[in-house]
Amino acid sequence: MNILLLGSGGREHALAWKIEQSPLCSRLFIAPGNAGTQLCGTNVQLNINDFDAVAGFVVENNIHMVVVGPEDPLVNGITDFLKQKPETKNVLIIGPGKIGAQLEGSKEFAKEFMKKYDIPTAAYRSFTTETYEEGVDFLETLKPPYVLKADGLAAGKGVVIVNSLDGAIDTLKQMLKNKAFGKASEKVVIEEFLDGIEISVFVATDGKNWVLLPEAKDYKRIGEGDTGPNTGGMGAVSPVPFADTEFIEKVKSGIIQPTMDGLMKENIDYKGFIFFGLMNVNGDPFVIEYNVRMGDPEAEVVIPRINSDLVNMMQHMALGTLNEYVIELCPQFAVTVMLVSGGYPESYEKGFEISGLDSPHDSLLFYAGAKEKDGKTITSGGRVIAVTSLHNDMRKAIEMSLSITHKIDFAHKFFRTDIGKDLLK
Ligand code: AMP
Ligand code: GLY
Repeated sequence: MNILLLGSGGREHALAWKIEQSPLCSRLFIAPGNAGTQLCGTNVQLNINDFDAVAGFVVENNIHMVVVGPEDPLVNGITDFLKQKPETKNVLIIGPGKIGAQLEGSKEFAKEFMKKYDIPTAAYRSFTTETYEEGVDFLETLKPPYVLKADGLAAGKGVVIVNSLDGAIDTLKQMLKNKAFGKASEKVVIEEFLDGIEISVFVATDGKNWVLLPEAKDYKRIGEGDTGPNTGGMGAVSPVPFADTEFIEKVKSGIIQPTMDGLMKENIDYKGFIFFGLMNVNGDPFVIEYNVRMGDPEAEVVIPRINSDLVNMMQHMALGTLNEYVIELCPQFAVTVMLVSGGYPESYEKGFEISGLDSPHDSLLFYAGAKEKDGKTITSGGRVIAVTSLHNDMRKAIEMSLSITHKIDFAHKFFRTDIGKDLLK
C-alpha cells in the first residue's frame, strides 16, 4: 500500500525508517519530512494543516494509509475531515478524530475525563478571566510548588511550575489577563504538584483493543542533571528499569484500561497512539498528561524496539482488528542522545553544515531539524539529530551513542552526556 506520513521531526524519521522496512509498504511519502525521512521515502512539500491540500495529495497518489505524526493536525480535525470526504473516506488513518484529540488539545477536557473515569491524576481546578479572583483564592489554599497549565496547545511551553505564592499569582495573571499563551491560556488549570519520577507509556489502539508498546523515559531539561529550561526532549531511554511488572500492571489496570473504557463509553472512535505521561509517586502511577501521538524523542527509542511489522499493526489499528496482532519486542536497551543547536531552547542559529553523517557506526541516526540544501545537510531546527543505540547492556548503549556524538559535528553543537546514567545501578 501507499502511505503518507505527516510531520517533520525525529519521531517522523523513526516512523518512516520502520514503515519503509515493511513488505506491506509500496510507496512512502512524508510531508513535509526532513533530510532523514528523504532517505526512507519521498518528501512532499505540503502544509499538513491545509486539509484540502492533504486530501488532494491522497487522491492523486492513491494513498491507502495516512499516519499523523504530530498533534496539531489531529487537534484541528484532520481525521474527521478525511473520513467525511467521499474521495478519502476509505483511507486508513492513524490518529484520533477531533474529540479524541481533545485529550491533548485541552488540559481541562483531559482532567474532566480522568475525574469521570477515576483515573489517578493531580487534584485540580480550572479558571478563566472571569474567575481570576477565585483562582487566586485557590492558589492560597495550596502548598508550593504551584503548577499552572494553559488549557490549550502551547507548543509544549504551557506548563509553569513556581515556588512562591506571589510568583504563582503573577503567572496566573500573565496567563489569564495578559494572554501569555494567546488563546491557549484563556483557561488555566491549576493543579496539585506531584513529586516523583516521570515515565512515558504508549499504547496503540483501534478504539477497543490495545497493545502496550515499550515504555520510555524522556530527559526534558536542557542541562546535565536535569537542570535549566524545558526542551522538546534531550534524550530518552527504553526500557525503564524502575517500570517493573508490578508498576506496569498498575498502569494497565488503573490507567490504560479505564482510559479505554472511558473512550468507549463516550463513543470516541480512537484509532491511533495514546501517550500516557505518568508520574511514579512512590510506586503508584498518576497521569500528568495525555498526548494523542507518539512522543519525541521517545519514538526514537520505542520504534527501534518493535521487531514486528509496524505497518501491519497500523492496519489492524485502523480496521479495528488489533486483537489479531501480536507484537514482538526487542529486549535490548535503546538510548537516544539528541544533538541540538547551541542556544536551544532559547534563540539559536541554523543553516550550519552537518559533517560526519557518513562515518561508520552501529547506531541509528534519526534526523530532526536537518534539511538538504545544495547537496549538503544543514541544521534547520533546535533539535538536530537523535543518535539511538541498542545494546543488551544499558551502559554500553549509552557509550555507543556518546561515541558517535563526537563524530557528527556542526557549529555550536550541544548535547547532554548524562542521558540514562541516573538509571544505572
Ligand atoms: P506537560 O506539558 O503537561 O507535559 O508538563 C510539562 C512538565 O511539567 C511535565 O513533564 C512535568 O515535568 C511537569 N508537571 C506537569 N504537571 C505536574 C504536576 N502536577 N506535578 C509535578 N510536575 C508536573
Ligand atoms: N517528549 C515529550 C513529547 O513528545 O511530548
